[in-house]
Amino acid sequence: MPVQTARDRRAAVARGVGLIADRQAASGAYPACQEFSAYRGYAWFRDGAFTAEAMSRQGEVESASRFHDWCARVLSSLTGQVTGLIAQSRQGRPPAADQMLPTRFTFDGSVGSEPWWDFQLDGYGTWLWAVHRHARRHGLSLAPWAAGVRLTVDYLAEFWNTPCYDWWEEHVEQRHNSTLGAIYAGLMAAAASPALDSTQRRRAAQTAATVRHTILSEGRAAAGHLSKWIGSEAVDASTAACVVPFGVVAPGSATAEATLARIESDLCFDWGTHRFAADVFFGGGQWPLLSCLLGWNQARAGRRDRAHELLGWALDQADDDGLLPEQVDHHLLHPDHQAEWVARWGPVAKPLLWSHAMVLILAAELGLTAE
Ligand code: BGC
Repeated sequence: MPVQTARDRRAAVARGVGLIADRQAASGAYPACQEFSAYRGYAWFRDGAFTAEAMSRQGEVESASRFHDWCARVLSSLTGQVTGLIAQSRQGRPPAADQMLPTRFTFDGSVGSEPWWDFQLDGYGTWLWAVHRHARRHGLSLAPWAAGVRLTVDYLAEFWNTPCYDWWEEHVEQRHNSTLGAIYAGLMAAAASPALDSTQRRRAAQTAATVRHTILSEGRAAAGHLSKWIGSEAVDASTAACVVPFGVVAPGSATAEATLARIESDLCFDWGTHRFAADVFFGGGQWPLLSCLLGWNQARAGRRDRAHELLGWALDQADDDGLLPEQVDHHLLHPDHQAEWVARWGPVAKPLLWSHAMVLILAAELGLTAE
């Protein structure tokens, strides 16, 4: 089991905060990883929303606010597109996946030129969740972000049930529980939001209730855990987010416990967590950010020792400069596939800001802050 003193851990937290702050773009965007060819120049709503949550929890109020400002500017530039998509949908012509909003943007907020697996709804839900948590935690007005909040609610309320790529940018033909969970959390935050009028709040609340009902009635495997996607019997580590932080089911509930137990047994080896059993990306290694998501869940379920172990393992994956990768290859599910990805995109992304962010969140959950 990894051993670090509380002092080592605090120092690592301080380094992580500094790393994210240094790398935040002047526009407010959080780059995914500038060192990695396929991510260079882009910022994701998903990665960024979790990163903003980490910075907000660690007391870096201005950094998180600047990220939310960037999101609000990006959203404002998408207003015409969203209005058009909703009108098209209401006329009975559901938009194709390639017409929908992208999942990543350049730092100046444009769409960029490289093709990507772009239609993903979770980042918009996670952003709604994160911006409300940030405002509430620090007593901030939502006014600078209110137009973005309204647009995002309209977009998600219209399209929440549309199949799209998941957190891992795969399986566009499915409805994924981790995506639905993010949408649920975002709409629940909006349902009590001062940024919305009472009609919009009611719509957000009603849609959130329908999303939750869909997850619980269609998204559970026969064994009782939440599944990777609706109709699947498999599990995905991202599905833990439906418990914490997205709150579809309560920590300690039967569904939450069954989901965590299945992730622990199928996907977690020596504290390192895989995404899903069929993962071939870079051979299907273990993701520090997912061990932190699992640890966050274990902490909220009252298993703080387990959460500390998972945090310790994640911290141990940093290199001598304190940089955390996207995944590590101590235990590969499909080693035959590692070389093809290295040949295609070079070594694994490092430092991945999202990895650092999840360490900061779990550390904060366990009472470890930089000060
Ligand atoms: C992952 C995404 C992530 C992106 C940027 C992809 O390889 O599948 O979840 O948002 O990298 O970090």
